[in-house]
Amino acid sequence: MKSYSVILPILALFISCLLACNNNKTQDQSISQYETGENGVVVSAHPLASKIGLDVLKSGGTAIEAAVAVQFALAVVCPRAGNIGGGGFAIIRLADGSVDALDYREVAPLQSQRDMYLDSLGQVVKDLSVKGGLSIGVPGTVDGMAMLMDKYGSGMSLAELIEPSKNIAENGFLISQSEADRLNRYKSDFEKYTDHSSPFLKADEWAVNDSLIQLNLAETLKLLQQQGRDGFYKNSHAIDLVDKVNSTGGVLSMSDLLEYKSVWRTPIQHDYKEYRVISMPPPSSGGLVLAQMLSMLDKIEIDTFSDINSGYIHAMVEVEKRAYSDRAKYMGDSDFVDIPIVEMLSSSYLDKKLDNYDIGTASMAEQIYNDLDFQTLESYETTHTSIVDKYGNAVSITTTLNSNYGSKVYFEKGGYFLNNEMDDFSSKPGTPNQFGLVGGEANAIAPNKRMLSSMTPTIIEKNDSLYMVLGSPGGSTIITSVLQVFLNVAQFNMPLDIAVNHKRFHHQWLPDHILYEDGCFEEVTKAHLAAKGHKFEQTKAIGKVKAILIQGGKMIGSGDQRNLDDAVYTY
Ligand code: DON
Repeated sequence: MKSYSVILPILALFISCLLACNNNKTQDQSISQYETGENGVVVSAHPLASKIGLDVLKSGGTAIEAAVAVQFALAVVCPRAGNIGGGGFAIIRLADGSVDALDYREVAPLQSQRDMYLDSLGQVVKDLSVKGGLSIGVPGTVDGMAMLMDKYGSGMSLAELIEPSKNIAENGFLISQSEADRLNRYKSDFEKYTDHSSPFLKADEWAVNDSLIQLNLAETLKLLQQQGRDGFYKNSHAIDLVDKVNSTGGVLSMSDLLEYKSVWRTPIQHDYKEYRVISMPPPSSGGLVLAQMLSMLDKIEIDTFSDINSGYIHAMVEVEKRAYSDRAKYMGDSDFVDIPIVEMLSSSYLDKKLDNYDIGTASMAEQIYNDLDFQTLESYETTHTSIVDKYGNAVSITTTLNSNYGSKVYFEKGGYFLNNEMDDFSSKPGTPNQFGLVGGEANAIAPNKRMLSSMTPTIIEKNDSLYMVLGSPGGSTIITSVLQVFLNVAQFNMPLDIAVNHKRFHHQWLPDHILYEDGCFEEVTKAHLAAKGHKFEQTKAIGKVKAILIQGGKMIGSGDQRNLDDAVYTY
C-alpha cells in the first residue's frame, strides 16, 4: 500500500511529462486563451501550433519565422483550415515601423472560364464551386512561406521551421472534441472525394484524444524540407497533384503550378484618431472595407457612444452596409480590374455615401444600390494567427481552405485537403456565394486571377507605436469582427479577452438583415432597432478573433472562446 502511494504520483508525473514532451496538449487539459508576456506571444487556433511558434521565438527566431512555423503546424493540427493546399495573406510590421503585405492567395487555374459554374440556361449549378475538383484554386501557401523566408528570414531555415510539424504528422497528435465532432460531421463528404487510404476516414466514429497520424503529409513536409517550394510546384508531387484535382472534375495544369507566384503588396494604411490601421489590400477587401467603415464612423461621431446600445449598433450597421455595397460593386483582383481606391477612401465620396444616413431609420439595401440580388448564407472556416516577438516585430496572418476542409478533396499522396477558394469569385455577378456575398463584374472569374477575399489580417499602431495585432476567420464577417474588437478596446476600454469574447453583430448590405449572435442584444435594444426598420437573423458564431494588445510594456494575447482550441502561448 505504502509503495503505491509513492509510485502512483511518480507514475502520474511521468505520464503527464510524457504528454507534455509529446506536445499532445488536448482539449481535456485546460488551454490558455488569455496570457500576458514580456518577450513574445503567439495566438493561434491550436495549442500545438502556438507552442511551436513560441519555441521559435524562444530560440531567438523572429515573429516572421514563427509565423512560417505556425503555418506548417496548422497544416497538420488544424486540417479544416490550416493548410498547404490553400492560401492566405500576411501583414508584417517590423520593429523599425516599416510595414509590408504578402498575398499568397490562390489563383484561378489557367483553364478557368468566366461561366464555368453555370448550366446551359445560365444558372449557377449548386455546389460546383464549393465541392470537388472544379472548386479548387491553385494553392499559394508553400510559395508564400518560401517568399516570407526569402525576404525576412533571419537565420532559421525553412527545414528547421517545418521539422516539429513534420514530427507531429509522423507520430500523430491527440484530437480535440471539436475536431472529432467536425471529422464525424464531414464523413460522407470525405468518402465521396477520398480513397480509403485517407487518415481522415475511420470505420467507427472519431472521439476526443484519438490519435491522428498523417504519414503522407509527413512525407510532403520532408520534401519541402529538402527541396523548398520546388518540392511542391514541380516534379512528381506536382504531377500527382494535377492528376488528383483533375480526377475529381478539376482543370489544374502543370503550368498553373509552375507559374504560381505570391505577390508583395502595399498595405492599406488608414488613420483613425490616434490610431493607424494597417491591413490587407486587394485581392482582399478587408483593408479597404475596414478603412471605409472607420472613416464613416468618424464622420458620424461614433466615439460619442459610451456603450453598445441601439444607437451605436444602428450607426455601425448603417456604415457596414454602405462599405459592403462598395465591396460588391467595385472590388476584385487589382491586377485585373481598376479599383478606384483613392476615390473610395476620399472624404467627399464617403460624405456622399452618408447622404441618406438617418439616425432614426434603417436604409434599405436597395437605397444603397439596386442592381444586385441575393439568396442564402452557409457555414465556413479559416484560421488566423497573431504574433509579436521580443524585437518588436509583429505578424498578422490569415490562411484558409475557404470551407471546412476546403473542397473536401483530399490529395492522398500529398496528405492534405485542397481548397475550394473558387467560390469566392462571383460565379454569376449578382448571385451570392456560400457567404451570401454578391459580387459584380470586378470579381468575375478569369484565368490566373485572384478571387476577392474578406480576410483581414490587421496591425494597429497607437501614436506610432505597435498597439494591436488581430484577425479572424468568418468569411464575410471577418472585417466587422476585426472592427468590433478594435472599437471594444479602443473606445469602450474593454480588457482584451472581454473585447474578443463580446457578442458580435454584422451587416453586409445583402442579405439585408443584421446577423447577430445569441445574447448580443437585450430585447429592448432589439425592439429599438426593429422600430428603425432593421431586420434580424441569428447565427451561432461571428468570427473567432485572435488578438494581441501591447499595453503598459506588456504583450497581452487573447484567443476566442468561440473556438475552444484557440491557444495563447507567451514568455
Ligand atoms: O477569403 C475569404 O474571404 C474566405 N475564403 C474566407 C473563408 C473563411 O473565413 C471561412 N471561415 N470561417
